[in-house]
Amino acid sequence: MKAAVMGYGTIGSGVVTVLDTNRDVIASRLGEPLEVTKVLDLRDFPGDPVENKLVRDYQDIANDPEIDIVVETKGGVEPAFTFVKAMLESGKHVCTSNKALVADKGAQLIRIAREHNVNFMFEASVGGGIPIIRPLLKCLAGDVIEGIYGIVNGTTNYMLTKMANEGSDFDEVLKEAQDKGYAEKDPTADIEGHDAQRKIAILTSLVAGRQIDYQDIPTEGITKISAIDMKYAAAMKRVIKLVAASKKTGDTYSARVAPLMLPEGHPLYHVDDVFNAIMVHGNMLGDGMFYGSGAGSLPTASAVVGDMVDMARHVDKNIRLDWEEEKLILADPGDDSYRYFVRTSDTKSDIEKIFDSPEYIDAGVEGETGFVTGEMKQSSFDEAAGKLIDVRSCIRLA
Ligand code: HSE
Repeated sequence: MKAAVMGYGTIGSGVVTVLDTNRDVIASRLGEPLEVTKVLDLRDFPGDPVENKLVRDYQDIANDPEIDIVVETKGGVEPAFTFVKAMLESGKHVCTSNKALVADKGAQLIRIAREHNVNFMFEASVGGGIPIIRPLLKCLAGDVIEGIYGIVNGTTNYMLTKMANEGSDFDEVLKEAQDKGYAEKDPTADIEGHDAQRKIAILTSLVAGRQIDYQDIPTEGITKISAIDMKYAAAMKRVIKLVAASKKTGDTYSARVAPLMLPEGHPLYHVDDVFNAIMVHGNMLGDGMFYGSGAGSLPTASAVVGDMVDMARHVDKNIRLDWEEEKLILADPGDDSYRYFVRTSDTKSDIEKIFDSPEYIDAGVEGETGFVTGEMKQSSFDEAAGKLIDVRSCIRLA
């Protein structure tokens, strides 16, 4: 079985390493070797095992009748979409780790794959090496998934864990994460929550069977979380995590990416460092949780190679996947209900004129008041918080 890799970066080179390291076991599982014969990249890699397999033009892969399986690990929507579409239309199976491509064009690429009796798979696009897409689509095919709650970004989870454990502030921890290679030079997509937003859009689209546009999901990153917020969280015996969540609400879903204060005992409470975890609630399953390495070259490549093996086993068959292009309108985010932690310089008597029975939190911080509201709709909270003279911080509770 011959394969090609498009994009020889962190993940693409990881795919070649996984196939090489586990060559024999993969060959025995498939009954034949799985070999990468072409690698698309504009760069040269002198001395690298793929040095002599490099091609510059994606048509060299699309037009190669020996290649059945193509891996896309370039990232970004274009030119990845053009390349992937061309491969599917040439009758090749494609798998990808590219969440931007899947969130934006997943439903369309699934349709094109179906029309050409090939497969488009994307296990690595959410949760890196953690199996989550196949479990949702196959193992839980008999369930209605009523909730998904995930820590799906390793960079921000590493940063929040450091801030909680060491009392350090955001900028300091970001620099350390960049020095260690856990955060990109331009960290915007991670710290602003955009990466998690695409991942929860993919998962929610899969369980809803309809297109959910990631732009419709209200998203807050972790840039406003400070060492003082962490002090309050510790006083409340809670941790702050960036949670990407969606919940079945009537005929649709509500979805949000935002920092949440989780209580001790919450399944996501102990998910630390670069690890990811996705908790799902099925109407028959109850709760289940998938935990593990959510990023990095080999864990992500492991999921890509899993897709390659699945596609090699179904080389003459399109595996049905229900994600239609018709857009699903999400529930109004203003109707979500939470308790909220708020920090303000307003006086307690002013706070009590606005909020019923606030629960005050003493974290030993001078010159301000921290309190937790009762459960309120997001829209009511926004209106009430707008009456405070000063809101220094506001974090939802789980
Ligand atoms: N920057 C991402 C993360 C990579 O930290 O989770 C995997 O999508």
